[in-house]
Amino acid sequence: MTIPSDNFQLPPAMADTAAPIDDAYMFVYWFSVVFTVGVTAAMLYFVWKYKRQKGVKSEPTGHFNKLEVFWTVTPTIFIIFLFHASFTAYIKNATAAEGATEIRVRGKKWSWEFEYPSGDRVPAELTLEVNRPYKMIMSSEDVLHSFYIPEFRMKRDAVPGQYSFIQFTPTVVGDAHVFCAEYCGTSHSGMLATVKILSHEDYQKFEKGLGKCQGTEEECKPENYGKTLFVKNACTACHGENGSGMLGGSPSPGPKLAGIFGKPQPLMSGESVTADENYLRESILRPNAKIVKGYNNVAMPAFVLKDDQLDAIIAYLKSMK
Ligand code: CUA
Repeated sequence: MTIPSDNFQLPPAMADTAAPIDDAYMFVYWFSVVFTVGVTAAMLYFVWKYKRQKGVKSEPTGHFNKLEVFWTVTPTIFIIFLFHASFTAYIKNATAAEGATEIRVRGKKWSWEFEYPSGDRVPAELTLEVNRPYKMIMSSEDVLHSFYIPEFRMKRDAVPGQYSFIQFTPTVVGDAHVFCAEYCGTSHSGMLATVKILSHEDYQKFEKGLGKCQGTEEECKPENYGKTLFVKNACTACHGENGSGMLGGSPSPGPKLAGIFGKPQPLMSGESVTADENYLRESILRPNAKIVKGYNNVAMPAFVLKDDQLDAIIAYLKSMK
């Protein structure tokens, strides 16, 4: 079931992110219609009014300062208003709601894979609960893709080597569509997925069906997989048990990791950086890119890990207390 949209040129709106975009879009649209009609009408009128007439000699009009000022200032005011309308829409849609459910989106030639907080990975179908805020953490395993849901008016590139994010709250029960909006090779046009937005009751049934991953739910959760990898790659040898920054009662050779997520990290350079997904990812793959203050004499080896492994380790780092 879908509801009809106020926006007659775009598919039905199915998330909270659509309204600000549609408002800005419709403003630009009607603004253009009014001015196109107005300017064309004025032009035709003047063509008719000042057409060549027998016995009338044309006279140059000369410079008219007031008019010059008027047609410079008026459009500027409109342009500023247009900027305001689109920028507020952008900011509104770029802010994630508190406690949004995080879903990992991985693009690869030529399919989308969705990983739920339970650790389940489902290709080509994204199941969401209506009226629940979500945050998509997107990455690409090969080339540039672009995750596009027209019904949500949301589109963002999935870039190899880093994370990008979109957030939304689905507002209508029904089916929406995912397209790849960045040319990525032979089957680009077939890089599709369905978004199923379910009612609370139906979503609970869907959730019961999750857990297809081998092993217990605890083992399957990304943060638990991340912990396994953390131990296996001997991260504990430098960052301490559970990233505590302590080894045998004294400070470990590597910086503390527990509790740093989302907080500023002081760097050697004197600057500081927020420990977000992209910072953690970079620090695992290229440890020397940003060195934490006081740790310039410690050489951390660079790790070669697959995207899902990086995602899992980052999920574990985020869960460290
Ligand atoms: Cu992926 Cu086009």
